[in-house]
Amino acid sequence: MPEGSRAQASAQALQTTDLFDPVKLGPLTLPNRIVMAPLTRSRADDNGVPGELQATYYAQRATAGLIVTEATNISAQGKGYIRTPGIWTKEQVAGWHLTTKAVHDKGGHIFLQLWHVGRVSHPDLQPGHQLPVAPSAVRAENQKAYTYEGFKPMVTPRALETDEIPGIVADYAHAAKCAKDAGFDGVEIHSANGYLLQQFLSDKTNKRTDRYGGSIENRTRIVVEVVDAVTRVWGGSRVGIRLSPLTKFADIGDSNPEPVYLSLIEQINPFGLAYIHVIEGDTGGDRHPAGGFDLQKLRRAFNGLYMANNNYTLELAIEARAKNLADLICFGRPFISNPDLVQRLRSGAPLATPDPSTFYAGEAKGYTDYPALT
Ligand code: PHB
Repeated sequence: MPEGSRAQASAQALQTTDLFDPVKLGPLTLPNRIVMAPLTRSRADDNGVPGELQATYYAQRATAGLIVTEATNISAQGKGYIRTPGIWTKEQVAGWHLTTKAVHDKGGHIFLQLWHVGRVSHPDLQPGHQLPVAPSAVRAENQKAYTYEGFKPMVTPRALETDEIPGIVADYAHAAKCAKDAGFDGVEIHSANGYLLQQFLSDKTNKRTDRYGGSIENRTRIVVEVVDAVTRVWGGSRVGIRLSPLTKFADIGDSNPEPVYLSLIEQINPFGLAYIHVIEGDTGGDRHPAGGFDLQKLRRAFNGLYMANNNYTLELAIEARAKNLADLICFGRPFISNPDLVQRLRSGAPLATPDPSTFYAGEAKGYTDYPALT
C-alpha cells in the first residue's frame, strides 16, 4: 500500500478504534485500554527501597489506562537482579507510597507486580550468600546473573523442601498486604518469564515427586495457593496474573503447556481475578513459535479480562481490538521514551526511540528526562 493511503487507513482506524475509550477493570474504570507493561529499571537503593525518582517516573506516565510496576521482590530470597525494588519492609512500603500518591494525584491507576525469581539469581544477591531456591536443582543453562560485580554464570539452585513452600506462599501474602499499605490499586502475580512460579508449572524445571510436582494438579498447586493467599488480601477483582505459556525466557519450557495452562485457568476462575496478562509467544520475540498453541483458548476459558503483551504497535493494538483478540494491550519500551505515549498514539504523533544503555541502573538519565510533547 502506498504511504499516503496507509496513513489514511490508519487515521480512519484511529477514529473508529475503542482503544482510547474507558474500560472497566474490576471496580476501576480505566480511561483507556493501554497498559504500561512492567519494566525492570533497577534504580531502587540496595535495600530495595524506591524513592522520589520512581514517583516522578511513574507519575509522568499516569495517563496509561493502567500502570503495572516493574517486577518487585516479595522477599530477600525473591531477588535476582541488582537494585530491583522490594515490597516486604516498612521502608519499601514508605518508598512506594511516594509513587502511588504521585500517580493518583495525576488521576492514574497503578498495580504492583509481585515477583520471586526462584533459580534466576545468584548467591551474591541472596541473603547470607545462600544458593537461590527453585522447585528442583535444575540450573538455567546459558544464563547470567547481573550481580554487583557484573555478570556471573547462573548456579544450580537448591530444591525447596516441601515444608518451606507454605513460607513462600506466606511471603506472597505479606507482600500483597504491604502493597495495599503502600496505596496501590491492586497487584499482579508474576507467574511468567521463567521465574519461580513458572518454574513450578514447567516440566523442564519441576522434577519434584511431592505434592508440588509431577501431575498438572501438583505443578499448578503453588500458583493456586498464591492466588488464594493474595486474593484473601485484595479480593479477586484487584488482582491479575501474568502468564507466558510459550516463552523460552530464562531457559524455561514445557513439553506440553496447553493442558497445564487450561487447568490453571479453570482452577483460578473461582477467585474472580480481574485479568490474565499473557505474554504471547516467546518473550520479546516470535509471537507464534513452533509447537505453540492458540492462546485465545486461555482467553475463552478465563472469566476476566485478557491483557495482551509482546511488542505491540499501534496498528497491532487496533487490529487486536477490531478482531476482539484482547481487552487490554500492553506497551513496554515505548513507554520508556514516551511518557505521554497514550496521547502520542491517539494523535498519530511520532514516537521517541529509547536508549538501551540507560534501561537498567543509573539514575535520572534515560529514566525521568524523556519529555512529553506538550
Ligand atoms: C528482567 O529484569 O530482566 C526481567 C524482569 C521481569 C520479567 C522479564 C525480565 O518478566
